[in-house]
Amino acid sequence: MNRKEIVASHRARIGRTVWHYDAVESTNDTAKELLEEDVPEGVVVWADRQVAGRGRHGRAWASPLGGLYFSIVLKPKEPHAHVLGLFMGLPLIKSLRHFGVLAGLKWPNDAMFQERKIAGILSEGVYRRDTYHVIVGIGVNTNLDLEQLPPEVRPKATTLKREVPLFVSHEEFLEYFFKEAELLYSRYTNTPLELMMRDYRGQCITIGRRVSVTTSKGIVVGRGYDLSPQGALVVLDDAGGKHEIADGTVEHLN
Ligand code: BTN
Repeated sequence: MNRKEIVASHRARIGRTVWHYDAVESTNDTAKELLEEDVPEGVVVWADRQVAGRGRHGRAWASPLGGLYFSIVLKPKEPHAHVLGLFMGLPLIKSLRHFGVLAGLKWPNDAMFQERKIAGILSEGVYRRDTYHVIVGIGVNTNLDLEQLPPEVRPKATTLKREVPLFVSHEEFLEYFFKEAELLYSRYTNTPLELMMRDYRGQCITIGRRVSVTTSKGIVVGRGYDLSPQGALVVLDDAGGKHEIADGTVEHLN
């Protein structure tokens, strides 16, 4: 495993220090290991490939060479792993749009293009040495062919290479993303959650759609209706019942 430190002093926090690896098990796990020492907020772990990339709910995240895999360490005042995972979807889709793919967010934080997933976020809260940290891990299918992904995910996945016939420089993607993520994070620190959630709602393609949501308590079918201030998905079922879902996997039915 090779590691290179990149210091970009034009960046305020996010991406000011980037640890670039050729391969790791999971950038989220490497970021957690860094927390054994006092790292500055905004430090990033970036890897060219992961051998044990992780998705939400214990799923695997295929991470072959050609994709973009990185994790950001944040130190928010509140234990906001879930909402920061939602909000970081905003700079993510902005970056995807900048590179030519008009992506939207399927709740909670899947970046989608034409109902196919192009990027995902795994946000984890961790206490270390009396400080609460959020590790926001982001995987983007950049310069990948669909055939490089596992057969079972191909029907519902896409890649930048497939949608835009241009090679995407990971350095350029990260430069753009870090700038947008810094703006978002500054706004988050100064803005009531309800207002931030309104911005997220505006980009969430699950609102207004007929959905099936698999939760630990069962399946809820209905219409994506709203978001709570804490970022739970509110689903209105066919009998008019409201379900506030804090965590789950959404399928868009129409
Ligand atoms: C999901 O959609 O289920 C979340 C996928 C998150 C993948 C990224 S890749 C970088 C970081 N390291 C990991 O092991 N997972 C996240």
